[in-house]
Amino acid sequence: MKDMTDLNTGPLDEEARRILRLNDKGGYTVPTAGLYPYQWNWDSAFAAIGFATFDTDRAWVELETLFSAQWDNGMVPHIIFHVDDDGYFPGPDVWSTSNAVGRGAQRLKSSGVSQPPVAASLAWKVYESDPELGEARLRALYPKMVAFHRWIMEARAESGAVCITHPWEAGRDNAPDWDEAMAGIDPVGVGAYTRRDTGHVDAKMRPTQADYDRYIWLVQFGRDRDWDDAKIAAESPFRVADPTMTFTCLRSLRDLAQAADALAEPRAEIDGWIATLEAGVETLWNPETQSYEGRNLRTGNFSGSVSNAGALCWWAGLDREEARHTLDQVLARSNYGVPSYDPAGPAFDHLRYWRGPVWAIMNYMAAKGMAEAGLGAQADRIRRDTARLIAERGFAEYFSPVDGTPAGGGTFTWTAAVWLAWASPSAQEN
Ligand code: GLC
Repeated sequence: MKDMTDLNTGPLDEEARRILRLNDKGGYTVPTAGLYPYQWNWDSAFAAIGFATFDTDRAWVELETLFSAQWDNGMVPHIIFHVDDDGYFPGPDVWSTSNAVGRGAQRLKSSGVSQPPVAASLAWKVYESDPELGEARLRALYPKMVAFHRWIMEARAESGAVCITHPWEAGRDNAPDWDEAMAGIDPVGVGAYTRRDTGHVDAKMRPTQADYDRYIWLVQFGRDRDWDDAKIAAESPFRVADPTMTFTCLRSLRDLAQAADALAEPRAEIDGWIATLEAGVETLWNPETQSYEGRNLRTGNFSGSVSNAGALCWWAGLDREEARHTLDQVLARSNYGVPSYDPAGPAFDHLRYWRGPVWAIMNYMAAKGMAEAGLGAQADRIRRDTARLIAERGFAEYFSPVDGTPAGGGTFTWTAAVWLAWASPSAQEN
């Protein structure tokens, strides 16, 4: 394997900073122009660790703008529609959250579901990069972050793990983890609509039409119930416990507990949530595949899907021998880090979004966690793979784990951010 120390990283670092500035719409970044023209929740949190490598104030602003869209019930939406844009579907009119039960006085237009809560973990990293500048900013965000996690624990954690009400909530839109629950939806009454994503990106790299019909059906289902969490929990056919949500939440709670200590705030409530998730996460362990997986709460069935979300267990501070074994097997089948789905699995598709490709952000979290758990060799390999991919193939949205083909959108914010904060040999953070 090529050693990344021989890379001339100066121009790549400069290109990554250029991408963050390019996608900066003033207070928030878009994931990439065209395909995703609004502010996305976890994309923004990753943008913050990128900005923190050269402009800490701007990093905090990114997080502050994200939390300025928080609903009264604590939910932080997955998309914030700061400006109108016809290039994306479904826009604010389809989500129609103005009457949402939990929205309260919030006036910013947004979607009605959330996304993996990485914000507290990444805010903690921004704080650690400059505690003096960060203390007041962290203090101001802290109650909002606690409220976000309180909402997750109250509205999504009835099984002990954290569940999703829409595939978009997991941030892994078309992962095989949802196949059973999605097949249970008959998308009648969705009506005619025009997809915009396939106007920007090759359709073979995107979810299928059958997936899309169900995404829209689920949006209409939530909208018809005024985004009332209790009604959706009771009535929706789609309710799947998700390793992405669960592991990122557990990690964020641990980081939030550190923030509580730094700010001399009480942490008993946070410690209680940590204990709940530490127990609940075991419900996601599938002994058959030896991995943490999505689990359909309506049937109790595992997805049978070995994914990069399962590999976030170390990011969450968990470890087990069998998971290490599975990881080594999957890494042996990938040329570029942890694939979103095991290349040996029946649903594998090397370019189709979350059914095979590798994603820089997932490699980042997985490898950081592994390094902390003492899996140094695996962590180093994943970091080198990610650096090599970006150096050779650019700042794409995702990549084939087989041949590194760059896929989806280009000039991607979180790929640039992860380069600056971690993958680049010049990265300070380790
Ligand atoms: C896609 C991804 C999701 C991401 C969004 C914006 O929907 O699956 O994780 O947040 O694009 O980049």
